[in-house]
Amino acid sequence: MNPIIDIQNLDVAYGDNVVLESIDLQVQAGEFLAVIGPNGSGKTTLMRTILGLVDPLRGQVYVFGQQPGALGALRSRIGYVPQLMTVNFQFPVRVSDVVLMGRYGKLGLFHRPGRTDREATRRALEQVGMAELANRQIGQLSGGQRQRVIVARALVSNPDLLILDEPTTGTDAESTESLYELLHRLNDEEHLTIVLVSHDVGIVAQHVDIVACLNRRLVAHGRPAEILNSETLSCMYGDEAMLFGHGAIPHMIVERR
Ligand SMILES: Nc1ncnc2c1ncn2[C@@H]1O[C@H](COP(=O)(O)OP(=O)(O)OP(=O)(O)O)[C@@H](O)[C@H]1O
Ligand SMILES: [Mg+2]
Repeated sequence: MNPIIDIQNLDVAYGDNVVLESIDLQVQAGEFLAVIGPNGSGKTTLMRTILGLVDPLRGQVYVFGQQPGALGALRSRIGYVPQLMTVNFQFPVRVSDVVLMGRYGKLGLFHRPGRTDREATRRALEQVGMAELANRQIGQLSGGQRQRVIVARALVSNPDLLILDEPTTGTDAESTESLYELLHRLNDEEHLTIVLVSHDVGIVAQHVDIVACLNRRLVAHGRPAEILNSETLSCMYGDEAMLFGHGAIPHMIVERR
């Protein structure tokens, strides 16, 4: 079976600054992959390359068998939750309108949303368990609820691949837990392929089956229990990093000098 994402020998640079080097990574249909790495390790750049927003310096990237720049209408098969998602929560707009905005890629800017769009909006809100709050003003939601609305917006084009860049930043443990529950349900029941970016090794190790550890290069790729060893961690976070089990929850400690 062809992978949904196929990255071969990829280098990416901003000007002279090479920020990703020799990346080989495949993501199969139905996979739930976490990409982890420290700040500045190239995680967002890798996602933007997959989306065709940044061009490779060298190597090949295929998404659904196409180069990202040539995805055309296939682009709507990818739902994207960018890092630091900017929704103006003070703006007086309803939850359903925020989700509907995710259809604009399909709609084109000057088309009025029709019944299919409203139906897709309703379904996306149902998928994230927010249907009852469809008419609520976006400013009147909790942080965790807002996050779900943003996920619904990425789901409204009915994608096969969902990419989330640090979706749990700034949310409490309970909302983080429930977001992972939601993502697992989408992955299991709706066969959505998921790529989630995080810098939080401990959280990811608990929740995701396969991780790719990035620090400019792909340091390791596989099951957390097999690859999250001291060698991998020191490649990402330096020699002072270590992971230890604390009950069922792994924690990472980075010693400061
Ligand atoms: N638009 C840009 N122009 C120039 N350099 C950039 C640009 N975006 C990112 N960089 C640089 O590329 C490197 C990788 O950045 P990137 O945002 O991909 O890292 P990241 O792993 O997502 O980090 P974080 O965990 O902080 O989100 C960094 O050194 C960053 O400064
Ligand atoms: Mg980032």
